[in-house]
Amino acid sequence: MDFFSNWEQLQQACAACQRCQLCKTRHNVVVGVGRPDAKVLFIGEGPGENEDLQGEPFVGRAGALLDKMLNAVDLDRSRNIYIANIVKCRPPQNRDPLPEEQEACIGWLRNQVALLRPKIIVCLGRIAGMRLIKPDLKITKEHGLFFEKNGVAMMATLHPAALLRNPSQKPGAFEDFLKLREKIKELCPETYTSR
Ligand code: URA
Repeated sequence: MDFFSNWEQLQQACAACQRCQLCKTRHNVVVGVGRPDAKVLFIGEGPGENEDLQGEPFVGRAGALLDKMLNAVDLDRSRNIYIANIVKCRPPQNRDPLPEEQEACIGWLRNQVALLRPKIIVCLGRIAGMRLIKPDLKITKEHGLFFEKNGVAMMATLHPAALLRNPSQKPGAFEDFLKLREKIKELCPETYTSR
């Protein structure tokens, strides 16, 4: 797989990707959003309908909840973080992305990680957590815990769409964001200061 050393090239190449069957049904490739110099990276599962139509991650109801939780700990997609997904194109009917779709797409995410060099990665939900932290991750038990991998602090939290279905889990997820704020102050305080 090609490696792109700047964001414009990566963006352009990713937007033309045909590495898996999802390219046939997508409206837009959802590459990611945020600051190219962010040290905190959030990773979801894959675009839903709104994201596919608008070309930006987390713009539907789940996205509104995510923005609210981010803002509560002084994070903002336009100011101090970056948000991407495991797969960049919408799986039809919002089914889980297939292992071969994840495999075909993961190189784009690796390239994004190589350009950002994040200090902290937050996996939004089970799919991202299992793919990036460990295959046997138990999201209900292990959300909010930090795992160190290749010098990056990694944590999974509950997916905002799961919180919409299950509002009783919101306080637990909010605790994860408070832990995240402390970890940011420890590892990359510039997230909160220099912009
Ligand atoms: N759910 C995700 O996992 N990612 C998005 O971009 C939107 C909804």
